[in-house]
Amino acid sequence: MSSKRFNTLNVLLVSLSVVAVAYVIRTPWLPIKRETKASLGYPKDSLMNFTELTGKYGYISEEHHVITDDGYILTMFRIVKATNCHKQKRSPPVLLMHGLLQSSDSWIDSGPNAGLAYLISDACYDLWLGNVRGNYYSRGHVHLNPDKDAAYWKFYIEEIGIYDVPAMIDYVLDYTGFEKLNYIGFSQGTGTFLVMCSERPGYCDKAQLVIALAPAARNLNTKSMIFRTLTQTFAKIEGALSMYGVQEVFSKGAFSQEFVAFFCQLSDFTERLCETIIDTFDHADFSHMGSITNETTRVLFGHFPAGTSVHNMARYGQSTRSTTFKKFDYGKEQNLVVYGSEQPPLYNLSATTVPVLCIYGNNDGLVDTKDVEWLMSKLPNVLESVKVKDPLWNHLDVTYSQYTVGSIFPKINEYLLKYTSA
Ligand SMILES: *[C@@H]1O[C@H](CO)[C@@H](O)[C@H](O)[C@H]1NC(C)=O
Ligand SMILES: *[C@@H]1O[C@H](CO)[C@@H](O)[C@H](O)[C@H]1NC(C)=O
Ligand SMILES: *[C@@H]1O[C@H](CO)[C@@H](O)[C@H](O)[C@H]1NC(C)=O
Repeated sequence: MSSKRFNTLNVLLVSLSVVAVAYVIRTPWLPIKRETKASLGYPKDSLMNFTELTGKYGYISEEHHVITDDGYILTMFRIVKATNCHKQKRSPPVLLMHGLLQSSDSWIDSGPNAGLAYLISDACYDLWLGNVRGNYYSRGHVHLNPDKDAAYWKFYIEEIGIYDVPAMIDYVLDYTGFEKLNYIGFSQGTGTFLVMCSERPGYCDKAQLVIALAPAARNLNTKSMIFRTLTQTFAKIEGALSMYGVQEVFSKGAFSQEFVAFFCQLSDFTERLCETIIDTFDHADFSHMGSITNETTRVLFGHFPAGTSVHNMARYGQSTRSTTFKKFDYGKEQNLVVYGSEQPPLYNLSATTVPVLCIYGNNDGLVDTKDVEWLMSKLPNVLESVKVKDPLWNHLDVTYSQYTVGSIFPKINEYLLKYTSA
C-alpha cells in the first residue's frame, strides 16, 4: 500500500471515529420524565437527587451554592442530621470530594450501610460534599452557557484545583466559622487538592488533615486498557472534536448515559453485564465481583457518569504516559507561548505540606499501587500510607463497595478522630 493511500485511509478512519465518538458523546439531552422511568422499573434511588435520597434514609441535607473566582456556580451538600448520630457534631467540618466523572451522589449510591457519606455523618462529623465544575450539579456559570459556550469547557484538573477546591473550602470555613477543615478526596478529588497546594499558596494550610483515597496524580502505570485507550484517544482528537462542537463528555441526561442507565437496570442479565463492565474498566480480572452489589450497580448508573470536559479527559490521557505530575502538554511550540518553556511545568508536590493519610487498593486498575507509592515518596508530610487488607480492593470499591465499613472506614475514622475535637 502506498503511503499516500495509507494516509488517506488513516484520515478517513480518524474522521469516521471522530464522527462516531461525537455522535455518542455529543448527544442531545433526552429529557425522559422521572415518572416514565419509574414506570419502566428504574430503581427509585437512581432517580433521586442528593437531598431526596439522603432524606429517604432519614438524613437531612442542605443544598449550598458557591461561586468561584472565575464565575462557575457549584453545588455543595451538607448533611445536617444523620440517622445514627445522637451527639453534637464534631468539629472541624469535613469536606468530601468525589472522583473523575462522579458527583456527590457517588458517596450515597451504595446505601446507608456502606456509602461513606452516611458512615462519616453517622460518626457525627459535620460533613460537606463538593461537586466540581462540569458535573450535573455544578453545570452553571454567571455568564457562560455550558450548552453554547465552548469557553465553559476549557478546564481540566488545573482549574478545578485553582478555583473550585479553594472556593468550596472558603465557603465551608466562612459558613461554619472554623479556620481549618479536614479534607477527604477520592482519586481526582485528591489530585485537585495537590494542584491547589502547588498553585494557591496559603490554601493548603486551610486543611489540617488530608485523607487521600486512591489518589490520582500521575497515571503512568494504570492497568485499565479501557481508561488508557479512551483518555489517550481524547488527547489525540481533542482538536477535531472541538471543531465538531464537542467539549463536554459523558454528561448525565445525554443519550449515552441514559442508555447505560436504562440498560443496567433492565434485567438480571444486563445488570450483571454492567457489573462486568465496571470491573473491566477498573481492572483486568473479575475476581472481586460481588463487592459492589447488584442493587448498587442498578442505582449508581442513575448518577454516573456525571459529566466533564474533553480537555480534562485528554489531560488524563497525557497522565497515563507521564512519569511526573505536570500541567497540560500543548506541544513544544504552544507550550512556549503558554508557559514560556517547551515542557509543561511540574506541579510542586512539596507544597502539599499538610499531613496526609493515604489509603489505596492492591487491585486498583486505574490508580496503580506503583503510582501511589511514587506520589507518597514525593509528599513531604505523609502520616501513614495504608494498603487495604483485601488484596482485591480496587478503584471503584472506594465509593461503591458494600464492604467499606470494614475495609476503609475504620482508618478514616481513626484519623478524623485524631484531628477532631468533640
Ligand atoms: C433535589 O430535589 C428537590 C425535591 O424535588 C428539589 O427541591 C431540589 O431543587 C433538587 N436539588 C437539585 C440540586 O437538583
Ligand atoms: C445478584 O446477582 C447474582 C449473580 O451475579 C445473583 O446470583 C443474585 O441472585 C443477585 N441478587 C439479587 C438480590 O438480585
Ligand atoms: C515547592 O514548594 C515548597 C514548599 O512550599 C517550596 O519551599 C519550594 O520552593 C517550591 N518549589 C518550587 C520549585 O517552586
